[in-house]
Amino acid sequence: MRIGIIGAGNIGSTAARRFVRLGHDVCIANSRGPRSLRSLVRELGPRVTAATVEDAARFGDVVLVAILLFGLRSMPSAAFIGKIVIDPNNYFAGRNGNFTELDSGELTHSELFATQFPGTRIVKGFNTLSHIALANGGRPEATWDDRLALYAAGDDAAAKSVVLDLYDALGFTPIDAGPLVAGGRQLQPGGPVFNTDLTGAQAREIFPHPGW
Ligand SMILES: NC(=O)c1ccc[n+]([C@@H]2O[C@H](COP(=O)([O-])OP(=O)(O)OC[C@H]3O[C@@H](n4cnc5c(N)ncnc54)[C@H](OP(=O)(O)O)[C@@H]3O)[C@@H](O)[C@H]2O)c1
Repeated sequence: MRIGIIGAGNIGSTAARRFVRLGHDVCIANSRGPRSLRSLVRELGPRVTAATVEDAARFGDVVLVAILLFGLRSMPSAAFIGKIVIDPNNYFAGRNGNFTELDSGELTHSELFATQFPGTRIVKGFNTLSHIALANGGRPEATWDDRLALYAAGDDAAAKSVVLDLYDALGFTPIDAGPLVAGGRQLQPGGPVFNTDLTGAQAREIFPHPGW
């Protein structure tokens, strides 16, 4: 799969490392431009290229946007149209800018995120574990009951499946957290699974799955 990654910090670079090891092709971007990513690209090998934000977005069938939310309004929306866009971002008032709609609870984090990406299929995910757990916590050899859980919330079942399959391949238990707004609320800071190291068995009690 071709994966665009916007943001090359803790989450973006960790995701790039992990996706490349699964055999995916990655194009990554940050705010300072592709030249600033030369050493990361050299380290990760020929499956990774660096580009502008716009080109990395156009490259991906799936695009992970792992920035700080104050950069949201600078994202070139047109380049994302038709893509599956993953939102791993967490908002903490004052630390990533101030969004009154989030502070008041009027919008969930992903609803605000989605306003910048019309014509895409948004999946909230990759946001509940630290980048260290994302780097080292995957255990493909373990059962779904025993692995760490990762969650995906979204309104498009096919898009959500793509993200859930990535979790499984990375060695996490894929948990469908439901639709974008209701599910996203559970995943964001203040929700019951944010920053918790729940196993699949524990997570299943919060998000029961018929047939699992
Ligand atoms: N760190 C974690 O463990 C963790 C876990 C789960 C979720 N998250 C969430 O994931 C997001 C990223 O966190 P992080 O820890 O990876 O942050 P980070 O290490 O500070 O990295 C942020 C990255 O975003 C890039 N960026 C910022 N504004 C941009 C813009 N307008 N255009 C292009 N690139 C831009 C930065 O590029 P430059 O360096 O060139 O400015 C940098 O590469 C946050 O929303 C955070 O809440 C983080």
